[in-house]
Amino acid sequence: MTDLYQQASEAAAFLSEKTALKPRLGIILGSGLGEFADSVEDAVAVPYADIPHFPQSTVEGHQGRMVLGTVGGVPVAVMQGRVHAYEGYRMDEVTFPVRVLALLGVRQLVVTNAAGGIDTSYSPGAIVAIRDHINLTGTNAALGRNDSRFGVVPGTGLRFFDMTTAYDAGLRELAVNTAAEQGWTMQSGVYLAVLGPSYETPAEIRAFRVLGADLVGMSTVHEVIVARHMGLQVLGLSLVTNPAAGVIDAPLNHLEVMEVGVQAAKRFGALLTALVPQIAAT
Ligand code: HPA
Repeated sequence: MTDLYQQASEAAAFLSEKTALKPRLGIILGSGLGEFADSVEDAVAVPYADIPHFPQSTVEGHQGRMVLGTVGGVPVAVMQGRVHAYEGYRMDEVTFPVRVLALLGVRQLVVTNAAGGIDTSYSPGAIVAIRDHINLTGTNAALGRNDSRFGVVPGTGLRFFDMTTAYDAGLRELAVNTAAEQGWTMQSGVYLAVLGPSYETPAEIRAFRVLGADLVGMSTVHEVIVARHMGLQVLGLSLVTNPAAGVIDAPLNHLEVMEVGVQAAKRFGALLTALVPQIAAT
């Protein structure tokens, strides 16, 4: 039996043989945001199915491939699609790709997702910088025996690790400034994660608002926890695809969630293209 560290090392070794590039920055593309991967230059696309031990998504609208290439000259590893806990995957499976990215050499991670807007000032299509999160999924990605070998940054890989600066303030400021340069205002917000796959009830959304949440979704927090365990710097971006349940008087519908992604994809792509070289320069 190989352990998780060995499996992640095998996957990273497999990927590093596919390209001469050494990615320093990783990007996880959420629901409806996968199109950005098509703008990666010098791209080598590797289907998740080919990567040893890699989990594969069962959700429609989530492609499953890793695109290795450059954005604005910066070597990147872009994940087009992710797996979710609601698909029945274990925490170590959900976060396996982040472990692999770190072992591949990635030290900065841009995590994106589709989210419901709890803050009523967000309109569908808004891109919001995640300032902090509330994990209400009932589990934690660092659960289990601690493996300090995952501490790729000196001083990390600890049993108990800090989450006060999980979402890097400097990277968030770069994102907000880049949006302003491109003519729009990026707000920031607190992302609350639920397990899913059912959307929330209106009563849950009212409760989450009282707790301090601005956005709700079913991903991201586990990846960010694991990223912080390994010492990666994180920027989180949410695409608000819909007002959260009960915020307006209409039912929630996955197809609408996907449709908003398609419309926002251009603005999102332009943002990331300008942002990646700035993040890499920090
Ligand atoms: N709730 C949870 N996850 C989501 C939502 C939502 O309203 N929209 C997109 N992902």
